[in-house]
Amino acid sequence: MQLTIPSCNQLFHHPKISLICHLQIANSRFLGFWVRLLSWFLGTPFFKKAMFKKFRLTEATAVYNGLREACTKRFSPVVNPSNNAVVCQVPFAGANAVWKTLSIMERSKKHWASVPAPKRGAVVGRIRDSLKIHKQDLASIITLETGKIYSEALGEVQEFIDVCDYAVGLSRQIGGAVFPSERTGHFMMEMYNPLGIVGVISAFNFPMAVYGWNCALALMCGNAVLWKGSPTTPLSSIAVTNVVQEALREMDMPVDICSMILGDADVGMAMAEDRRVDLLSFTGSTHVGKKVSSVVHGRFGKCILELGGNNAVIVMDDADLDLAADSLLFAAVGTAGQRCTTTRRLLLQDGIYDQMMEKLVAKYKSIRIGDPFDAHVQCGPVISRAAVKAYQSTIGEAISQGGRVVYGNEVLDGPGNFVRPTIVEISHSASVVQKETFAPILFVSRFSTLEDAIAINNSVRQGLSSSLFTASLGNVFKWTGPHGSDCGIVNVNIPTNGAEIGGAFGGEKESGCGRESGSDSWKQYMRRQTCTINHSGQIELAQNITF
Ligand code: UN1
Repeated sequence: MQLTIPSCNQLFHHPKISLICHLQIANSRFLGFWVRLLSWFLGTPFFKKAMFKKFRLTEATAVYNGLREACTKRFSPVVNPSNNAVVCQVPFAGANAVWKTLSIMERSKKHWASVPAPKRGAVVGRIRDSLKIHKQDLASIITLETGKIYSEALGEVQEFIDVCDYAVGLSRQIGGAVFPSERTGHFMMEMYNPLGIVGVISAFNFPMAVYGWNCALALMCGNAVLWKGSPTTPLSSIAVTNVVQEALREMDMPVDICSMILGDADVGMAMAEDRRVDLLSFTGSTHVGKKVSSVVHGRFGKCILELGGNNAVIVMDDADLDLAADSLLFAAVGTAGQRCTTTRRLLLQDGIYDQMMEKLVAKYKSIRIGDPFDAHVQCGPVISRAAVKAYQSTIGEAISQGGRVVYGNEVLDGPGNFVRPTIVEISHSASVVQKETFAPILFVSRFSTLEDAIAINNSVRQGLSSSLFTASLGNVFKWTGPHGSDCGIVNVNIPTNGAEIGGAFGGEKESGCGRESGSDSWKQYMRRQTCTINHSGQIELAQNITF
């Protein structure tokens, strides 16, 4: 039952691993023939064997709780988006792993649910401490697999650490209310009990943090957690599970309360179908989210859905334009445009349109694209060749719908998936503006009044995040009020992305339902019960009914 993958610390401190990671991470576009030759050598079966031994990747199936023989379905390549080199192959399970893993988890979930909440909090605290120790190495794995710049990758691990902190605090606070009963000698209270097993399906762009939000809260609430990360980022899933299970072992807790399965869509669907998964938290596209939700709701299971966004920034005439331009750089270009909270639409008020565009283009010209491990780089590669194609076709579509490319529209030469962040002026009603493309493309249009801008903001089918730049208090309260933004995240003078863990995270409309992370989202991981206790010794019916 033990996860035998070496710690990521060991992994990256091994000289060969460190070499291959750094070589492969290096954007080969900027490297010469010799380095590419060496990279090729490092990709040979001989070296892979050494790497497998070090990673102990054939034992990665241990994460399915020792059920190796039953689980491995195929080997899947891990591809470095900076140069499209195959880093290694990892064993993926088939759908049968879900059934087997859940059977094991069924046993340990009972034990975990009986541990008092503050003690569960202490276990989550130990996970936090382990994450802190491994923070840099975990971030390296994120950068290697996703191409996310290292500083953002560190931030991602920090989100996990922060939400653990949050969960530790909550572990001494969660509880229900007591209500006055209308009946004599009756006591009415709310009880929150663990749901049982929480399934988490997360996406490539946040291969650790989104699991972290769900895992920390679900655990603190007394649930066992079954995780399927993105098939694109299995090393992140393995490394994090390793760290989490190490902490559980140190605290004498059953490690399978945090189980993980590497696999494809069939594994996810098996999680959606299985009645033992009481709550399924899914992060991914609206298209897949729709399928997942119909399967889970079809069996009356619970769902949290974090789906696509089409987030707008509105800049008013009275806004601090430098602040807006700086914010937009991170909002639209951060994570190479691959956050669900990335700004995709920019709405500028007539009076500042030209000035703001000038500032923005100047900022875009200064963006450094390249090796995501380089501290000066702001924009790493997009995740895959398919993502590069989506970037190209979306810009093509925009042009054919009357859009004008103001900056960008360039795929950089070389083996990696590097594209130039792009600004397109286009009508807000063009059909290409209505959909989410996971790439650094910003669509800009103009408006006259705040009411118009709010109407445009709310006109799309998605409703995740939004931000208004203004100096007027009146505008702020219009924006956050009943006739303001219809999104789950409504910001003022900050980017649409980069939310703190303390606030509930989630969207409306096609962006999904439910909330993860902060505020009272812990309640979704628990069964709420209304308990009325009669201590009068006499029957008295509510609403004065006589019977
Ligand atoms: C996501 O893109 O799926 O607010 C999550 C943010 C991050 C989380 C993004 N804290 O941008």
